[in-house]
Amino acid sequence: MKIDLNTYPIWHPFSQMTEWPDLPKIIRGKGVWLYDEQGNKIMDAISSWWVNLHGHAHPHMAKRIKEQLDRIEHVIFAGFTHDPAVELCERLPKHLPQADWKFFFSDNGSTAIEVALKLGIQKYVQHDGVDKITIIALEDAYHGDTFGAMSAGARGFFTDPFEQHLFDVKFIPSPTAENKAACLSTFKEALGENNIFIFEPLVQGAGGMIMHEAEVLNELLRIAKEHNTITIADEVMTGFGRTGTWFASNQLSEVPDVICLSKGLTGGALPMSLSVCQRWLYDVFLTEDLNLAFLHGHSFTGNPLACSAACASLDLMEEEETWDRIKAISEMHKTAARSMKNWPGVKEVRCLGTILAIQVESDTTAGYMHPVRQRLYDAFMKHGLLVRPLGDVIYLLPPYAISDEELRWAYGVFEEVLREEIAEKNSEDVH
Ligand SMILES: Cc1ncc(COP(=O)(O)O)c(C=O)c1O
Repeated sequence: MKIDLNTYPIWHPFSQMTEWPDLPKIIRGKGVWLYDEQGNKIMDAISSWWVNLHGHAHPHMAKRIKEQLDRIEHVIFAGFTHDPAVELCERLPKHLPQADWKFFFSDNGSTAIEVALKLGIQKYVQHDGVDKITIIALEDAYHGDTFGAMSAGARGFFTDPFEQHLFDVKFIPSPTAENKAACLSTFKEALGENNIFIFEPLVQGAGGMIMHEAEVLNELLRIAKEHNTITIADEVMTGFGRTGTWFASNQLSEVPDVICLSKGLTGGALPMSLSVCQRWLYDVFLTEDLNLAFLHGHSFTGNPLACSAACASLDLMEEEETWDRIKAISEMHKTAARSMKNWPGVKEVRCLGTILAIQVESDTTAGYMHPVRQRLYDAFMKHGLLVRPLGDVIYLLPPYAISDEELRWAYGVFEEVLREEIAEKNSEDVH
C-alpha cells in the first residue's frame, strides 16, 4: 500500500515513517506465509517478531479463542478469576524447571520485566528494609522499551535520549565461552549485599542472537545464589521451544527465582505475559496488610481470550508432532550451519534449537544501525522472505509449522542474497 504521509493515520513501531513509502498490507496468513492485498506471499521467517509458534491462522488456536469469545471476552482480574487463567497456570509448571511457581499476569514482554524488577525491588525495600540494591544485567541485553526494561538493557541510540532518567545498572560481559573469565570476575566485582541479576538465558535475541555457554551461566547463577541475589530469567524470546527445550532454563542446572514469559505464550495470537515467580518470593508478600501487597496491575491483566489462546497453544505444544518439527528444524539448522560457515561473506554462524543466525562480514561495527541492515531487508523482501537483520546479523526463527521444503527454500534465499550482497560490495569497491 502506497503511503502518503499527510493522510496515512498510523505511526508504526521502530520506524522512521519516511523509510516506508510502500507498506505491504497483509490481508491473511496461513502457516508460515503472509498474503498481501496484491496477492504476493511473504514467508514469515521471524515468526512476526518471534511470537508465532504454530503458523498463522491455525484452526485450533482460532477455535479455542472463538469459543471463549462466546463465553466472556474480558473480566477485571482483581477480585475475580476464570477457567482459562487457572487452566494455563495449572498446566505450565509441568514444563517449567522444577520449583513451586506462582504466576503474575501482565500484557507484554516489557511489562513482564517491569513486574519482575518491581517484585525484586519491593521485596528488598519494603520487606527487608534495605535501601541499597545492586542491579546487574548483561552487556548487549534487551528487555523491552519501558523504563525499567530500558534501564536493564544495553545503553545506546535506543536509550540515549532517556539516559538521565534510567536507573543505575551494572553490566557484565555475556556468558559466552570466550568471555568466561571476564564475565565471572566482573560479576563478582559487581555484586553488592542485595542484588538483582537479570539475563536472557542462552540466547540474547535483539543483541544479535548472542549464544551463551550454559555452564558459564550456571556458574553465574551459583555465585548469585551465594550472594543474596534475586535472579530473573527473561525468557520472553527463548520460551516455548525456541532453544530446543520448552524453556532455555530447562537446559540449566540452576533454577532462576523469576521467569518472564510472553511472545510465544499465546502462540503469538494475542498479547499477554507472565512473570513466573518462585513460591518463596510470593510468600514474602503474603500478609494481612494491603500496604505490603504487590500493588501492580493493568486493565487487561489475565484477559480470558489471551489465556484461551495460551491454553490452545499449550495443547499444540504438548503434541508429539510439534516436538518432531522442533527437532527436525534444529537438525536442519545444524546441517545448514556447517555449510553456511564456508559461504563467502559469512563471519560466523550461530545456532541453537530453532534459531539460526549468520553474522555477515562487515568493515564497521555499527551494531544494530549497520547500513547493511536495510539493504539486506529489502533484498530478502524482493525474494518474498521476511527477515529483519539485527545490524549485521541475519537469522531465521520460524514458526514450527514450517516444512522441510520451506526451510530449504529459506536457506537458498539466504545464499542467493548474500551472494548478491558480495557482488554489490565488490562492484562498489571497484568504482
Ligand atoms: C528477551 C526480550 N525481553 C523482552 C522483550 C520485550 O517484549 P515486548 O516487545 O513484548 O515488550 C523482548 C522483545 O523482543 C525480548 O526479546
